[in-house]
Amino acid sequence: MARPHKRFVCQACGSVSSRWQGQCADCSEWNTIVEEAPSTAATPFQAKHNLQGGGRAIEMIGLDSEVKLPDRMTTGIAELDRAMGGGFVEASATLFAGDPGIGKSTLLLQAAARLALAGRGVAYVSGEEAADQVRLRARRLGLGAAPVRLAAATSTRDILTTLSMGPPPALLVIDSIQTMHSDLIEGAPGTVSQVRASAQELIRFAKERGTAVVLVGHVTKDGSIAGPRVLEHMVDTVLSFEGERSHQYRILRAVKNRFGGTDEIGVFAMDEEGLSEVANPSALFLTHREEGVTGATVFPALEGTRPVLVEIQALVVRLASGATPRRSVVGWDSGRLAMVLAVLEARCGLSFSSAEVYLNVAGGYRVQDPAADLAVAAALVSALSERPVPADAVAFGEIALSGEVRPVAHAALRCKEAGKLGFERALAPASVGKDAGPLRVSGFKTLGALVDHLLGRG
Ligand code: TYD
Ligand code: MG
Repeated sequence: MARPHKRFVCQACGSVSSRWQGQCADCSEWNTIVEEAPSTAATPFQAKHNLQGGGRAIEMIGLDSEVKLPDRMTTGIAELDRAMGGGFVEASATLFAGDPGIGKSTLLLQAAARLALAGRGVAYVSGEEAADQVRLRARRLGLGAAPVRLAAATSTRDILTTLSMGPPPALLVIDSIQTMHSDLIEGAPGTVSQVRASAQELIRFAKERGTAVVLVGHVTKDGSIAGPRVLEHMVDTVLSFEGERSHQYRILRAVKNRFGGTDEIGVFAMDEEGLSEVANPSALFLTHREEGVTGATVFPALEGTRPVLVEIQALVVRLASGATPRRSVVGWDSGRLAMVLAVLEARCGLSFSSAEVYLNVAGGYRVQDPAADLAVAAALVSALSERPVPADAVAFGEIALSGEVRPVAHAALRCKEAGKLGFERALAPASVGKDAGPLRVSGFKTLGALVDHLLGRG
């Protein structure tokens, strides 16, 4: 039988070559190529079909076999547990991603302390701050007495060796994965190959020892720091911690979850005592409303099963002809704004082409719900016409390119929340009808009808 050929595999990009090279020809990483053991002898069938030999028979089961739900650890921080779908899952890996300074270390230290106080084994490894800094923060947050095992370290080998000596912790926080270093491969911490190799070792530990591992990952707006992107497919859960640093509010969102849904959010406020839970986000996002202001609409957004009222603000500035007008969006999708503007122009005869348009979602909140279209349109029409949207009204509905106002999910839930906060009317799709709970509904089939209503034409 022919001897199996040697295989050399790049550990950074996975490309296979027949001889060792210092630099990978495919991804240009240095010293990433490693010889892999040739596979064992193949059966004649495998040899004929070019398959590897030496495998074991695996058990095949039906889709209807019994499912064991993973054990979860609730932190007692309800907003965090909710976003994760019920707490940390044993033997799992979670990527906790967010902008630098948004509050990742603070929230995870709070969660770690809660679990430790509840009697779980918890280890917190900081590669960014000295142990004293973390202790000082814990003390300031009133968590100095929590039995968290704390270390400042950056070598994954040292960390895993240490943790393997005793019983494995239930929760291991690695802050951050960009500072970790694996000596299995070359390269500085923070490079793609280092981040990947370190994460691989830590995730293997999680799966083998039953630990819930949380990897903190910084993301930057321009994506210049390697890391979170390459990790997303390696971990079970990706939590994204969002917000504007200049604002108090933070939103935790699961963007991937192998153990649960991705539609619930957790809302927090950053204050002197760290991150506190915000059980009633609507009241918080709407605190600074003034009556009679043009260009503002309240939108009852839905996050998972939870309604959140947010204010949408638009400003339209007429330009002297000639200059290309700006469109600037904070907290919403700029493509979606372009679409709503185009429909207002093409179907309703309102011209924004010689005006600058600014759109802002108040409070540093980021709207993802497609039902925001109608609220945005109302804010734009109000800003353009300088007529305020009625202060007792909320607006929601999706807009089609045809100018049709389309129905959206959970109209009743949105209206109920708006009613709780004192609103009396809803500008909504015509289909909403009477299932709007406490609100009087002005229903619209088309965007043109809404425009007529707002301009007092119909
Ligand atoms: P941090 O958790 O260090 O952010 P990250 O780990 O995501 O980089 O939080 C940093 C900011 O939070 C910092 O600017 C100070 C602020 N902060 C508070 O306002 N209150 C607090 O109690 C704490 C601990 C931090
Ligand atoms: Mg930090």
